[in-house]
Amino acid sequence: MPRSALLNVMVQAATKVGRSLARDFGEVENLQVSVKGPGDFVSSADHRADEIAIEALKRARPGYGFLTEESGELPGSDKTHRWIIDPLDGTTNFLHGVPLFAVSIALERDGELVAGVVYNPVLDELYTAERGTGAFLNGRRLRVSARRDPVAMMLSTGSPTRQDGAIRRFADEATGIAETSASLRVTGSAALDLAWVAAGRLDGYWQYGLSPWDVAAGMVLVGEAGGIVTDAVGRKDIVRRGDIAAGSTAAHRQILTTLKAADALA
Ligand code: IPD
Ligand code: CA
Ligand code: CA
Repeated sequence: MPRSALLNVMVQAATKVGRSLARDFGEVENLQVSVKGPGDFVSSADHRADEIAIEALKRARPGYGFLTEESGELPGSDKTHRWIIDPLDGTTNFLHGVPLFAVSIALERDGELVAGVVYNPVLDELYTAERGTGAFLNGRRLRVSARRDPVAMMLSTGSPTRQDGAIRRFADEATGIAETSASLRVTGSAALDLAWVAAGRLDGYWQYGLSPWDVAAGMVLVGEAGGIVTDAVGRKDIVRRGDIAAGSTAAHRQILTTLKAADALA
């Protein structure tokens, strides 16, 4: 299916950012062995990626506003449209030379998410979705997984940090999920987790404490691939709350039930 003009704009921006990230990732691999490590370099790679995304999207749609992880809120003259961008999702992976990271770009219109693009330049995997027209990986149509049996499911989550104070809950919930499913993953990139749910690779995903730029594009992908996205107890208002549970209908149900049972035991 030919892409809309809007998706073309988003894809061009994402691939431009992706080229910059891929170049910098090559450098990170060299810096791994230096005493200082790649920390400062990665934070400048992040900012470079942010600038590239903003410049490309501004040129194509001059009035639209922005919410990006690195630049915050940048209001535009057009109050109905806003780009929501994470220029580099999976920073810790990137820093450690693990090739699981992505640029994530979503468009919000009148407060509703209408399109999302997630691009992993190392795997050259481009995930695109526009509301009402389906989700695609490198042009191939995506559907969430059809597995119904929880014990066959592979589910994913994100680990809390030391500062979150949520390690106990993480451990309880991860135990509950591991006991009832085939396998649990922690990929380190929320945007890729959601893209992989859309692709049916992961049956489902949940995490707490996320920001809009982590999930906006991925939410469109999952919705357009026939999946369900809510917060961790089934409510709709995810972007504001920052908690997410996503998956096929069966996996989503399984996640909510298991989290509830694990939290009740805590
Ligand atoms: C992080 C990743 C990670 C998730 C963290 C996010 P960043 O984003 O999405 O998977 O567990 O909560 O902050 O910092 O790599 O852009
Ligand atoms: Ca992120
Ligand atoms: Ca980021």
